[in-house]
Amino acid sequence: MTKLINGKEIAKNLRNTLKKEIDNLKSKTGKVPGLAVVQVGEVAASNVYVKAKTKSAKEVGFEVIDHHLIEQTSEEELLQLVMNLNKQENVNGILVQLPLPDHINEQVILDSIHPDKDADGFHPLNVGKLSIASHNDQNLLIPCTPYGCIIMLKSLEINLSGKNAVVIGRSNIVGKPMAQLLLKESCTVTIAHSKTQNLEEVCQNADIVVAAVGRPEMVKGSWIKKGAVVIDVGINRIEANIKGENKNKLVGDVDFKEAEKNASAITPVPGGVGPMTIACLLRNTTVAFKNKQKS
Ligand code: GUN
Repeated sequence: MTKLINGKEIAKNLRNTLKKEIDNLKSKTGKVPGLAVVQVGEVAASNVYVKAKTKSAKEVGFEVIDHHLIEQTSEEELLQLVMNLNKQENVNGILVQLPLPDHINEQVILDSIHPDKDADGFHPLNVGKLSIASHNDQNLLIPCTPYGCIIMLKSLEINLSGKNAVVIGRSNIVGKPMAQLLLKESCTVTIAHSKTQNLEEVCQNADIVVAAVGRPEMVKGSWIKKGAVVIDVGINRIEANIKGENKNKLVGDVDFKEAEKNASAITPVPGGVGPMTIACLLRNTTVAFKNKQKS
């Protein structure tokens, strides 16, 4: 039987654990973690994600400082806001939702977030720390989506050490940090991308496939080795004919129906990686809060 990896459930458990921890911290310090959520413009997907992140943060007991700026906001104005948030005592984590409008250099903004308040783990210092820190370092701020994928893999209680893991996609947000985290688990890691030759063959060799390409159902069922674990990071909105009507439907980067036949465990879309990303954002902000109390 193929196991469906229930990201919704695992994320709920993580949020419950965090809530207890935050209640505890509140009674000890009189403070709760503060998360600044910054969005520029009106990208439809970002509106959905930011709303979900804000709601979850409030539910676990965070203070949320919301900054929704207009599309025409200049890079300088956004930099100024980040600088102010860097200084604010009650702000422990800063999240700048990506993508930003084309006239703003994303890397300039990500670099300006104080590394101790980097709720996404995208600052170069945290990217570097992720690559060199020890396996058990609990203080790291780790990119949320790949961290969520690792928690789901660990929930399977299989031995990850020595497994062939193939990550499809080399983005800074998912692919590259995912590879680092799998390496920490002693997997043998291959990062595949749009120029990879014989991608199908590369995948067929994998014990673990993490698909993060942003192309609907690109990974076919026949690419999945019998017994492999499949983590589908893709969230793609496609038009589908459902009972004679054209409707929008969410699908992953993996052809779920076919891949499920070969996989030993697989994440669904929706209800897989998505909820984990949000829970890990809350985890990072809690870590940033605790790190500050220690210093
Ligand atoms: N856009 C898509 N995924 C993410 C994410 O994890 N963090 C931020 N800040 N923006 C995103």
